[in-house]
Amino acid sequence: MSGRVIDGKAIAAGVRADVVAAVKTLPEQPALAVVLVGDDPASQVYVSSKGKATIEAGMRSVEIRLPKETGEADLLAQVEALSRDPAIDGILVQLPLPKHISEQHILAAIDPLKDVDGLTEASAGKLLLGKPGLRPCTPVGCVILAKTQRPDLAGANVVVIGRSILVGKPAALLFLEQNATVTLAHSKTRDLRVISRGADILVAAVGRPEMVRGDWIRPGAIVIDVGTNRVPAPEKGEGKTKLVGDVNFKEAIEIASAVTPSPGGVGPMTIACLLRNTVLASCARRGWAVPDALRA
Ligand code: GUN
Repeated sequence: MSGRVIDGKAIAAGVRADVVAAVKTLPEQPALAVVLVGDDPASQVYVSSKGKATIEAGMRSVEIRLPKETGEADLLAQVEALSRDPAIDGILVQLPLPKHISEQHILAAIDPLKDVDGLTEASAGKLLLGKPGLRPCTPVGCVILAKTQRPDLAGANVVVIGRSILVGKPAALLFLEQNATVTLAHSKTRDLRVISRGADILVAAVGRPEMVRGDWIRPGAIVIDVGTNRVPAPEKGEGKTKLVGDVNFKEAIEIASAVTPSPGGVGPMTIACLLRNTVLASCARRGWAVPDALRA
């Protein structure tokens, strides 16, 4: 093994410690509402982790779990009620939603001041225009992790694989904001392996288990693996499964200068940035000064 393992849990713990310090200085406890529709096992785990982390940060957690048959109108009514509720500071609707519900319709019902996921048109527009605003959590986590290895990203060749609204597109804009030279690659990109090999920083957010192999990586590159995929693990016994990223970690660590593991890399950063956004949203909406601990 030649490369470093980027310890996302430890770096996220630093961000979370800042959030805890910040919350203690606020006049009131901020509250984060997380809405989950359906019983997807992975989403259930994510939502429980978010709720637990919110409480550990000293904030109030409101979890709304709805059956998978919930209609779009009912979900809209729930989200609108949270948007109106003065006691709620942040709203996160866990994605993906069941196929019969339009994600765009639901996201549009989130008060932009409470958009801790950074997914509303208002937040996305601010990101595009370079205006201050709430930024999507996972891409912010990717940038923070990359900067632990290369504090100045100016001029770095960043290749992002994946163009989702949750990760790929906002990640490209955030790296651009850091003055990186960004290539946004996707399923229709030709010669993906060759393009990936041009990256100083390779961000894999495709949702395909271990798609990025060792020979996709430039020697010495930094690799940020956003994927979390559940795959069969016959070596652990019949019917057993395990989580792997979008990057073949064993091959990547031989070639890259640093790689995030999955799990244990980007995931913990997503939660830490969500908590940070909840405090920032509460300050902006309630007219509180941003605590010093979060000013960096
Ligand atoms: N599903 C997987 N990750 C996320 C996330 O960061 N936010 C939302 N809303 N849904 C997700």
